[in-house]
Amino acid sequence: MAGQTLEIIYDVPRVEEKLILKSAKMRGLSVRLTNVRQQHLLFDKPSVDISLVRCISMYNAAHSAAVREGVGVRAINSSEAIIYSGNKILTVSRLKAAGLPTPRTAVGLDDEAAAKALENVGLPAVDKPPIGSWGRLVALIKDELTFKTVLEHRRMISSTIMKTHLIQEYIDIPNRDVRTVVLGDEVLGAIYRYRGDGDWRTNVARGGVPVTAFLNDELREISIKTARAVGGDLVSVDIFETVDGSYLVNEVNGVPEFKGLMQATGVDVPEKIADYILGQLRR
Ligand SMILES: Nc1ncnc2c1ncn2[C@@H]1O[C@H](COP(=O)(O)OP(=O)(O)O)[C@@H](O)[C@H]1O
Ligand SMILES: [Mg+2]
Repeated sequence: MAGQTLEIIYDVPRVEEKLILKSAKMRGLSVRLTNVRQQHLLFDKPSVDISLVRCISMYNAAHSAAVREGVGVRAINSSEAIIYSGNKILTVSRLKAAGLPTPRTAVGLDDEAAAKALENVGLPAVDKPPIGSWGRLVALIKDELTFKTVLEHRRMISSTIMKTHLIQEYIDIPNRDVRTVVLGDEVLGAIYRYRGDGDWRTNVARGGVPVTAFLNDELREISIKTARAVGGDLVSVDIFETVDGSYLVNEVNGVPEFKGLMQATGVDVPEKIADYILGQLRR
């Protein structure tokens, strides 16, 4: 509803946040910007009607959503959805519970357990920490020596979460994966992300190239079910297409970037987000 206030909570402003701000204002919403790097968050009701959480840091995002929820302000996404999509082990747990297909995954909470997880999954495998993005620390393990190196490197990082290994069968994807963006009950679009030069990962941050993809019914259904599994209003879903043409859900992002999807498909995602927020305020 015009006259109501949307809060955009962020840590590092990206082009996405600027575009959402513009679209929200065009629809008559007042917008309050909260930079969590500079402003503290109080467990008192702020004079906003809804909060859109856009922090890059998963913990910043989850914590700021939680503070707002604690005083009765709806956060998009909810702290729970941010936590479940921000941690790949929790995500796979929700996907499995919802009956969604995923790559075969084993969890090793320490080095010895990780070695057994790799043995179980077999080579080649992919080793990733539960929390991370842009392909960082996601390693392709083709032999024991590489695995030993990865274990050694992760031991050097002094945080428990980085000693946790999610080990997954390597899926032989056709040079690209599929990314969809879901908002409420709608899948806004789908893109392929083609591997860039010199990297096996498809992340745009690693040189991946976004190209529009046909959003078939199966992709649509998997995407919606995935968003529901983590309880997200606005999420992106990364999907692998196997050589036999079936789909596996790789991961979910609870604070999705969508610049690539906008460029490739022409879908005005910020406009859709502003409309969705207005719809939520009317409820
Ligand atoms: N099991 C896998 N099989 C094949 N490729 C993978 C697998 N897991 C990850 N990748 C590749 O690595 C990229 C980054 O992994 P991902 O799990 O999405 O972590 P991030 O959160 O850093 O994006 C994926 O987009 C994909 O290209
Ligand atoms: Mg990813």
